[in-house]
Amino acid sequence: MKIVDIKNGEVGTLNKPLSEERQGEVLTLSNEKKLNTNGKSFYVESYGCAMNFSDSEIVASILKDEGYGLTQNYKAADVILMNTCSIRENAEDRVRNRLKDFQHIKKQNPAAVIGVLGCMAERLKSKLLEQEQLVDIVCGPDAYRSLPSLITEAEGGQKAVNVLLSREETYADISPVRLDATGVTAFVSIMRGCDNMCSFCVVPFTRGRERSRNPHTIVQEVKDLFNKGYREVTLLGQNVDSYKWDTKENEERIGFAKLLAMVAEVNPLLRVRFSTSHPKDMLDDVMHTMAAYKNICNYIHLPVQSGNSRVLNLMNRTYDRAWYMGRIEAIKRIIPDCGISTDIITGFCSETEEEHKDTLSILEEVQYDFAYMFFYSERPGTLAERKYDDDIPLAVKKRRLQEVIDLQSKNSLHSNQKDVGKVVEVLIQKTSKKSEDDLCGRNDQNKMVIFPKENATIGTYVKVKIESCNQATLKGHIVEYLN
Ligand code: 5AD
Ligand code: SF4
Repeated sequence: MKIVDIKNGEVGTLNKPLSEERQGEVLTLSNEKKLNTNGKSFYVESYGCAMNFSDSEIVASILKDEGYGLTQNYKAADVILMNTCSIRENAEDRVRNRLKDFQHIKKQNPAAVIGVLGCMAERLKSKLLEQEQLVDIVCGPDAYRSLPSLITEAEGGQKAVNVLLSREETYADISPVRLDATGVTAFVSIMRGCDNMCSFCVVPFTRGRERSRNPHTIVQEVKDLFNKGYREVTLLGQNVDSYKWDTKENEERIGFAKLLAMVAEVNPLLRVRFSTSHPKDMLDDVMHTMAAYKNICNYIHLPVQSGNSRVLNLMNRTYDRAWYMGRIEAIKRIIPDCGISTDIITGFCSETEEEHKDTLSILEEVQYDFAYMFFYSERPGTLAERKYDDDIPLAVKKRRLQEVIDLQSKNSLHSNQKDVGKVVEVLIQKTSKKSEDDLCGRNDQNKMVIFPKENATIGTYVKVKIESCNQATLKGHIVEYLN
């Protein structure tokens, strides 16, 4: 399975939130699962966010149960699947280009079945079949259980589509096939969909209504992961702070703070992270839970989008700058050493130069450790597309984006420089891409740390003294082995 970087050409900072770190890597099946085979094989390529990565593991599980074997070689696959992203126009363009590559495969092997999954499937529905003649299957994010029957239909020469959205589907009972080769970190989906209706965003249309997953199935999945050797889980949802589950038996309502505590209690050696938080819902209870459990990582991704209250209102974010800054102050008060990152959109409809300067000033005021930064890309069907003119010229959007990037690069470097000389705890994740002799992993605040291997092994904790840095990474050497 290949995870492709949707950020290419969009210029994220070099520091990436954990939820996106595996993008751009070619992944192999972790050793613990050997797939049965019915003689047929499938290949999955994932684009976009961590949620898509996680969904591909559910898809792999569903197909495995039908006897399909996973292959890394799309040229030899009987079924080729692309799990797609619609968040910005260029994410969709990239998928279209990739589909053209698959055209050659179809010529060599006309029996191969090609399927589009995920947000693009949901957004374009059967239009995908008309626009992209070679696609055989279109399957939306809530319809993965029907994939085996869609494949059978397609094998019989029919085009097969299922884009029904559900109010209930959470795939709670499906045990995902882990596609991470290192077996140290895993994503665990805790909810699906989004009810927020930010005016720029296509997600509520492609992923449907928000619904939370049964907490007991979440805790069980996390326990299984720990027992298999995993040492870090990231709880995933579009808006994790609005997680809620009502248990009928004891009338107890489980919110996100309670769920976090339940997961943290699985084992103190298991790190817990989560993504993404919404400023309107990120209340103090979650921060107090983070402060109470050492194994909940001190890191919050809190997308601000804009530093100007009028623009935030147009974006339908339902908070203003003052509310957002109140949340940042609460984080700094309750969890003083918390890493904070954000998302920014430049050049939203009618944004003035002064309003853009407010975004620069909020970056200065908060001093984020890192940020994902984008220029506004109008998406068909969204509230903004229907209500507002996309009136900021592309060159202006891009220039504003560059100003945001330049400032954030400086801030990221400054944030990392403050760590030089400190000793930080790192969970070792993998061998460094640049050198076989180095290992790397993240500290509590989600910063990537690189250090010489010495006697350390992947999946263990070490203390590393930081000696140098750039804006993306910290570098040091091991001063203590922790387990
Ligand atoms: N244009 C640009 N960026 C967008 N995002 C979401 N929709 C758009 C869009 N239409 C960004 C937001 C969000 C992140 C996942 O992607 O910053 O937080
Ligand atoms: Fe999109 Fe807003 Fe929901 Fe995030 S919270 S997925 S930006 S609608």
